[in-house]
Amino acid sequence: MKYFFSLSCLIIIYLTALGFNNETKKFDASPVVAEKVKSLLSEMTLEEKVGQMTLITIEAVSEQQGTKDQHHVLDDKKLEEAIKKYQVGSIINVFDVSHEIDYWHEIINKIQNFAVNETRLKIPVLYGIDAIHGATYTKGSTLFPQGINMAATWNRKLVEKIGEITSYETRASGITWNFYPVMDIGRQPLWPRLWETYGEDVYLASQIGSSYIKGAQGNNIGAPDKLATCLKHYVGYSFPVNGRDRTPSWISERMLREYFLPTFEAGISAGAPSVMVNSGEVDGIPTHSDYHLLTEILRGELNFKGIVVSDWEDIKRLYTRDKIAETPKEAVRIAVLAGVDMSMVPKDYSFYEYLLELAKEGSVPIRRIDEAVTRILTVKMELGLFENPFPDPEMKKKLACDEFTNVNLNAARESIVLTKNENNVLPLTKKVKVLVTGPTANMLSVMNGGWTITWQGNEESLYPKEKNTVLEAIREKIGLENVSYVEGCSFDKDINIVDAVKEAKGNDVVVLCLGEPAYCEGEGNITDLTLNSVQLELAKRIMATGKPVVLVMLEGRPRIISSIVDGAGAVLTAFLPGMEGGNALADIIFGDYSPVGKLSVTYPKYTNGNTTYDYKPIESFEPNVYDPQWAFGYGLSYTTFGYSNLKIDKAEMKEDEELSISVDVTNTGNIASEEVVQLYLSDLYGSVSRPNKQLKGFDRISLNPGETKTVSFKINKEHLSFIGRENKRIVEPGEFEVTVNTLKEKFVLK
Ligand code: BGC
Repeated sequence: MKYFFSLSCLIIIYLTALGFNNETKKFDASPVVAEKVKSLLSEMTLEEKVGQMTLITIEAVSEQQGTKDQHHVLDDKKLEEAIKKYQVGSIINVFDVSHEIDYWHEIINKIQNFAVNETRLKIPVLYGIDAIHGATYTKGSTLFPQGINMAATWNRKLVEKIGEITSYETRASGITWNFYPVMDIGRQPLWPRLWETYGEDVYLASQIGSSYIKGAQGNNIGAPDKLATCLKHYVGYSFPVNGRDRTPSWISERMLREYFLPTFEAGISAGAPSVMVNSGEVDGIPTHSDYHLLTEILRGELNFKGIVVSDWEDIKRLYTRDKIAETPKEAVRIAVLAGVDMSMVPKDYSFYEYLLELAKEGSVPIRRIDEAVTRILTVKMELGLFENPFPDPEMKKKLACDEFTNVNLNAARESIVLTKNENNVLPLTKKVKVLVTGPTANMLSVMNGGWTITWQGNEESLYPKEKNTVLEAIREKIGLENVSYVEGCSFDKDINIVDAVKEAKGNDVVVLCLGEPAYCEGEGNITDLTLNSVQLELAKRIMATGKPVVLVMLEGRPRIISSIVDGAGAVLTAFLPGMEGGNALADIIFGDYSPVGKLSVTYPKYTNGNTTYDYKPIESFEPNVYDPQWAFGYGLSYTTFGYSNLKIDKAEMKEDEELSISVDVTNTGNIASEEVVQLYLSDLYGSVSRPNKQLKGFDRISLNPGETKTVSFKINKEHLSFIGRENKRIVEPGEFEVTVNTLKEKFVLK
């Protein structure tokens, strides 16, 4: 017999089970705000309403682009036109490099002065930015590890803190809307935005994403140090069949609901007041035109009350790229009726003009426009912008303060994964002579990735000189005289491999830093996941010297390195650990910190046949189908941990009962360290084929040598649920198995 729950009821309990506490709740207008918005709306002209739905980029109101050699200049006339004539509701971005915080204040003050002093209804502008790993576009801000790393910390509290600091620094810059977190699931390793995600697992990403939102928004987005988050990119963007950015995803509705929707559900439950639409298409339907996803599911089922904003130019693209609209005006009609409330146009006023015409002709009903504007005004009011839209100069003082930098250093350390350590090559003593080589050894951009100072993040000359690259951090750690440096190769060209090999022979150890340059979106497309051949060549020739090699991978996605892993004594899979990444790596390499990070994605061994950890029974007929370089959840430490006494409190549970699970974890090594204890669940038989196992809980504990702690988890019917054949979340009785480390216990759901 199957048990079907009503979907909305189940979603609520399911999300509670995912670990949201009562402090956060879905975004909605307070009664006072709802009343005020209603009254303001009643005074608005159609033009004013359509203006609120229009979002432009700062480039559209600029006189001079900011570059590394020249300062950005606003065009006051264009700005005045944008705000007074078109009444644009929102402005975003930089053109094209980060600003000093004082300049941000100048810009925001100017914009808001126009808005509140020179327009009829004095509606403030909502300024938005991609502050994805810190305040991206504010010079000197605290730039944390990227999403893939944050998830590798498995540390909810830390991620909450990062959300808090990012909001503080963004708000200190005068900006109140952050296009983050990315709630797309990272299950396609070629995709050049993999590093922006919280990894491949639904549960981990939901937990990390909602922790971030909790920190970023607190209980009130209107607090002076909080802001409005934006979940992106709703939904299915991250799974392009061919791996290239903005190419088709093929995801059935059942799989969409199983893997891609839950993270967004979690973000909405955590209180996110805005959602950005998937810039691509799912099953042949460009998401900006998808009424089913944007209205029936998002509004009807998930009860989302905030703003749906388009992604960059994507309404136009329904005509120019997707060709589902025969004219640009038709594209506007389709998108607005599908459920898009605000158009990231972003360089002109075409959306404004077309929507005005459409409304006047009656092809877009005024009630749809009112609905969208109500949501936009609600977010602005809840943010407190009507009371005070101006930056607070006092907040500048704490920008990148020591407290924030320390959190960042800790985050970087916790986010780096030790994936190999043969014969305890690591940690090194501080008395060794080291050769540092490889293209990522002496650059900051390679540790930060995209959305750092510039969109692509690859303008090395703009990076803060006081921050340490891996090379600089190692020099600082063991003294200049003990470190030699030969670049070896660039990302794709031999520079002086011969010299690097010669130098290796005269040193005790080689720290070999490989990986990828910084990139963002389509600019990072690749057709082969294998690391560039010249880097593999450098590695092989260095390894042939017989010197111990510590391989450090700095990259946005897991590039295939299977041909060189055997030759490395130790591997640090560091992905994008942020501005403190150099220091963190040096701390780990020389034993000042024992690694705790666990992979948030499967690290593949082969370019094809990519398989995630939660593979299906049909994939396990051949032996070793899940044969990755390193598995999801994997990561070594400088100590060892023993697991024992896995206990469940009953062998049979009823649907409305909870199962308690406990396990003892002992530090069996010689140093104090932390461990991430992971709980997996396997549904042994199901009416649709069930994954081999799924993460359903985790906890981080710290243990002294010899110390044992008992870790407890609870499982309830929501953990046991899945999307059934009817595309609805169901629970089926039967046999289940829990796994913690290598220990297993079975139970039966009656
Ligand atoms: C990206 C979004 C981003 C937006 C605004 C787009 O190209 O896909 O993630 O928020 O630009 O910068």
